[in-house]
Amino acid sequence: MEQIKRIKISVLTIFPGMFDIIRNYGVIKKAIEKKLVEIDILNLRDYTTDKHKVTDKPGYGGENGMVMLAEPFYRFYDEYILSKNHKPYVVLPSPQGEVFNNDLAFELAKKEELVFFCGRYEGIDERVRKIVDKEVSIGDYVLTGGEIPTMVIIETLLRFLPGVIGSKTSVENDSFYNGLLDYSHYTKPQNFRGMQVPEILLSGDHERIRIFRKKDSLLKTILKRPDLFIKKELDEEEKKILVEIIQEMFNKNPDNFKESKDV
Ligand code: ADE
Repeated sequence: MEQIKRIKISVLTIFPGMFDIIRNYGVIKKAIEKKLVEIDILNLRDYTTDKHKVTDKPGYGGENGMVMLAEPFYRFYDEYILSKNHKPYVVLPSPQGEVFNNDLAFELAKKEELVFFCGRYEGIDERVRKIVDKEVSIGDYVLTGGEIPTMVIIETLLRFLPGVIGSKTSVENDSFYNGLLDYSHYTKPQNFRGMQVPEILLSGDHERIRIFRKKDSLLKTILKRPDLFIKKELDEEEKKILVEIIQEMFNKNPDNFKESKDV
């Protein structure tokens, strides 16, 4: 019988309610119901040591803002290890981390147990980093906390788990999966306000449709994300399609190629 990959994700946050957004809707809700993923949202305040459940204090060195205490994160971590007898893989969303992309999501999706530490305010006491395995940034901008980045990361990585998205091919066709942007999609009606669905998609010829889509992906990537295209290692088929694209462009408008021909 095929082994079903499951993942357990624990999130430590002072705003557990924010995570209702991902737990209660769409594919993640279904993945939880199918038991492909277990998502535990834990309140950091439950790991504090004082009666007021304080999670932050003013920073040392005359800093303006508040800094999150190391103790509640370590208490959670120690309890986790004690109950399971092994370490989880800890992710700290932070603007200082490795920039998140599909490859990193794929790496994280391979882990069996992930823990996310959500920071707030000026940041987390530096000593928490000692128990962090990977710091991840979702982009070069600063949010007020790690909750939204954590949701972005969870949503992205769960798409790689078998069974979360309807079919494997829809993940494989996603933008970035093969280093290219996704091809264009159409649904009914065939004629929408004078705009037609490309004939070939109505032909039922799966092989021609596959090539047409590959061409569309290549062109979109070249035009919208040349940086991605430059990094892409093309296979034989993709090279052939590119040659076809250039030949078609030439046949349509040879004058555009005049200068380069004369060189
Ligand atoms: N926390 C605040 N800003 C962030 C970012 N850009 N990425 C990840 N975590 C963050």
